Amino acid sequence: MRIHDKPMKNKIPYKGILLAGGAGKRLYPMTRVFSKQLLPVYDKPMIYYPLATLMLFGISEVLIISTPEDAPNIEKLLGDGSNIGLKLSYKVQNHPNGIAEALVLGDDFIGNDNVCLILGDNIFYMGDQLNDFFKIIWKNEGAVICGYHVPDPERYGIVEFSDGEHVLSIEEKPKNPKSNFAVVGLYFYTPDVVKKAKALKPSSRKELEITDLNKEYLQENRIKVLRMCRGTAWMDAGTPDSLMDAAQFVQMIEKRQGLKISCIEEIALNRGFIDIVQFAKLVDNYEDGSDYKRYLSKIVGERKQNV
Ligand code: DAU
Repeated sequence: MRIHDKPMKNKIPYKGILLAGGAGKRLYPMTRVFSKQLLPVYDKPMIYYPLATLMLFGISEVLIISTPEDAPNIEKLLGDGSNIGLKLSYKVQNHPNGIAEALVLGDDFIGNDNVCLILGDNIFYMGDQLNDFFKIIWKNEGAVICGYHVPDPERYGIVEFSDGEHVLSIEEKPKNPKSNFAVVGLYFYTPDVVKKAKALKPSSRKELEITDLNKEYLQENRIKVLRMCRGTAWMDAGTPDSLMDAAQFVQMIEKRQGLKISCIEEIALNRGFIDIVQFAKLVDNYEDGSDYKRYLSKIVGERKQNV
């Protein structure tokens, strides 16, 4: 059994915030009517991927933040999440005031819990590195960020680190990057993050910057970085090219293995959020005719045989 397929032994002490707003300017006119996070990435809406990542971490309570126009459509798609054993709630971000604003808007939701923030256009394929994540996030004493090796570091937040988990510097889209490790859109914080996010000042581009927030933890020596290994994939599907690349990546892996990536229903079953009876019932309610339903129905058949 792979780590992805195991039910969680202990409840992970994190809530999730999925930030799915923004104007989607780089994908215009695809985003003129439709939210970026509802665009398809091969066989499922983009938002399934970050939601699936949170679920793989064992997180079942998630606040989804989006624009006034898009939040109702996302809610139409995912509802309250109870059919897959999740507790989803929604909040509107009126203007794209910065990624760190998600943690201000999430104040009541976070309460005294740890929180994992994920960006709605970030797609992860982690393989067994999920194990390393568990090790580092269980002992989080402030912030945990993740570094992914990229050829074009000027486009991202960049983390410089010494061996292991020790962070030396973090810079947002530097002209002279100190490393090739991009800070991916997945961040783990202790509950004091809300207070820190509220104290941030808008940057020159008038946003509450996630990098400024992470620098606060760096100053206090309370930040760790997890370096994502070779063989893992991280994609930010925010441009026509990266959207196409992500779709082709998913298509290629799924066709080769006959297993779906980020299938939220399957993860809900494997992680123990729902049982096979609930799973079979929800599959039954899906429209006939899609490859997606056929895939889920096959799982029902296989599991029932094994009971
Ligand atoms: O993707 C990783 C990168 O994300 C990090 O390396 C950078 O440090 C971080 O600043 C961010 O950079 P981007 O330039 O990609 O951020 P962008 O403004 O495109 O926003 C990322 C996603 O968050 C996008 O799907 C829209 C959403 N968003 C963004 C802002 C600023 C919101 O929902 N609300 C916002 O206010």
